[in-house]
Parts: sequence; C-alpha cells; structure tokens
Amino acid sequence: MLKIGIINGPNLNILGKRDQKIYGNITLEEINCKIKSFAEKEGIKLITMQTNFEGEIIESIQQLSSQVDGLIINPAAYTHYSYVIADALRDCPIPVVEVHLSNIFSREDFRGKSVTAPACIGQIAGFGCQSYILAFHALQDLLKKKPKKD
Ligand code: DQA
Repeated sequence: MLKIGIINGPNLNILGKRDQKIYGNITLEEINCKIKSFAEKEGIKLITMQTNFEGEIIESIQQLSSQVDGLIINPAAYTHYSYVIADALRDCPIPVVEVHLSNIFSREDFRGKSVTAPACIGQIAGFGCQSYILAFHALQDLLKKKPKKD
C-alpha cells in the first residue's frame, strides 16, 4: 500500500483564523480531511502532522522517510531561512513536494526565496488548499512509477 506523509509547519494549526485574504477560511483539519478522502479513494495511507517547532519538523522528516513513500511539506516561514530543514530534506531518501497556500512570489520580498524548495522534487504555491491536492496527485503519479515500500 502506497503511503504519503504530510508535514505542516508553524502557524498552520491556526489556519481559518490567520489573514483570510491570504489564506482563506479553511482550517488545517478541513484540508487534511479533503486529502484523506482522495487518499482513501486511491487506497493510499496518509499520515499527517503539524508542529510549530523546527526540530520536530526535522525529526518528522527523518522518521517518516522510513515509514512512507513520499512526503508533502509546507515548512511555512521556515521555508525562507531554515538551512537545517533544507539539509534534512537533502538527506531524505524519498521524494518530497513543497507546498504553499499563498503565492509566496507575489508577497513580501523575503517570501520570494525558498531555501527548502531546491531540496525537493518540486514546489506548488498559490492555489490555496488546492496546492496540497495538486502536490498529492503529483506525488502519487511519481510514486506509481517507482517501486513501493511494504
Ligand atoms: C506559507 C507561506 C509562508 O511565507 C508563511 O510564512 C506561512 C504560510 C503558505 O502556505 O502560503 O506560514 O507557507
């Protein structure tokens, strides 16, 4: 059975209460439910987690890399400066897709740089919760062509 992990970084636990012009009113729980329903239909096991701590993101990358076939990550603000997460992603033996709800390139200058995306197979940004679903499909497609764990 194909397994996909989703890691969400800081402040994404309060989606729905954050700036709604940028992030909309959807909550993280609702996003996870949407992806879970896709995953169930496709017979894919989904593991989701969220943390506000950098070290926990690194531990999750390391631990999930031996439990799932591919990862989706929204490192949130760490995207723009966390070399330690970038290193963990570079050392991660499974494919990772970076996602962002907002178009990080159309916002403040500091958001226009991702130090983590170069360590991923690709990045999807700007489609709200659809970014996660697009990433899920991209990963699913890629993993279909690769040998599976289990
Ligand atoms: C974000 C974009 C980041 O710049 C920001 O710090 C976030 C959310 C997004 O999903 O659009 O927390 O990762």
